[in-house]
Amino acid sequence: MTGGAGFIGGHLVDFLQNNHKVTIYDDLSTSTQSIVDSLVKKGAKFVKADILDYDTLLQSSKGFDIMIHLAAKSDVTESVLHPEMVENVNVNGTVNALNCCIKHKIKKIIFASSAAVYEDSSIAVTENSETKPLSPYGASKLLAENKIKEMAENNLDYVILRIFNVYGKRQNKQYAGVISNFAENISKDKPLVIYGDGLQTRDFVFIYDVINAFDAAVKTNSSGVYNIASGKSISVKELAQMFLDITGKKVQIKFQPAKKKDIRYSMADISKAEKELGFSPKTNLRDGLTELIPVSN
Ligand SMILES: NC(=O)c1ccc[n+]([C@@H]2O[C@H](COP(=O)([O-])OP(=O)(O)OC[C@H]3O[C@@H](n4cnc5c(N)ncnc54)[C@H](O)[C@@H]3O)[C@@H](O)[C@H]2O)c1
Repeated sequence: MTGGAGFIGGHLVDFLQNNHKVTIYDDLSTSTQSIVDSLVKKGAKFVKADILDYDTLLQSSKGFDIMIHLAAKSDVTESVLHPEMVENVNVNGTVNALNCCIKHKIKKIIFASSAAVYEDSSIAVTENSETKPLSPYGASKLLAENKIKEMAENNLDYVILRIFNVYGKRQNKQYAGVISNFAENISKDKPLVIYGDGLQTRDFVFIYDVINAFDAAVKTNSSGVYNIASGKSISVKELAQMFLDITGKKVQIKFQPAKKKDIRYSMADISKAEKELGFSPKTNLRDGLTELIPVSN
């Protein structure tokens, strides 16, 4: 699994290694050794290397049935500042992963794509909706998807998961979205900072629901592209209010200028994943947040 030391990867390795042999391939550029240590203790192997280092990736991926490819630069703001670097890792890294699959006759690749491939849309997007990424990050994910579909002609199954906004424990504060920032600030009695007017919407999905989607992707026998989300959206302003309600805290809500290339509306139609993968998100936002943030009183 590339990117196995990251937020999603760490939870996914933890889950999959109950029934599978897992190698984590990660350069730890946005993650830490400590999560790796705990996974290695439970049986995972670890290779610390860059996805762009083809020879090491080739050596490390020998003997597997499935490649789960999560390694990526996923910070939208960073992608605006350094589009070439992000495209290099996200697209050429995917091509390296694909070449290893072909070379070793690996049967399937599971790819973490993103809601950022879609055009901004105030209605729920399906997998057939227009893809028109706003950010270089979204563009890199779309290019990577296309490489996968091209290479899949060589007897390689693929499952592309277009993941919406994931939240949960151990999310990297620097790179993660609004929920981990709100959780961090509210735990320190600091104001909740909203970029823009707060009316932008997001479809938040709990980490364990995402892990179940990957599990279904491992088990399925067919190729496809699937939205992975809760299927419900909430504005960032309403989200801030939910944090105040849950914690009972009275911190201020502060507004800052909107971030560049941030999408306005985001909500998924998840009926394809429900029907074909048996995906069924179990945790509603309020319950997920309650599990995540320390509640006062
Ligand atoms: N978290 C979300 O809300 C979300 C939503 C949609 C898609 N995704 C995608 O899911 C995947 C995992 O996301 P995450 O939230 O766990 O991110 P993350 O940053 O926590 O994990 C990514 C991992 O990839 C590793 N990595 C980065 N560049 C690398 C390189 N050149 N070589 C080897 N390893 C490298 C990092 O060290 C990190 O451990 C990413 O592809 C991301 O784009 C995440």
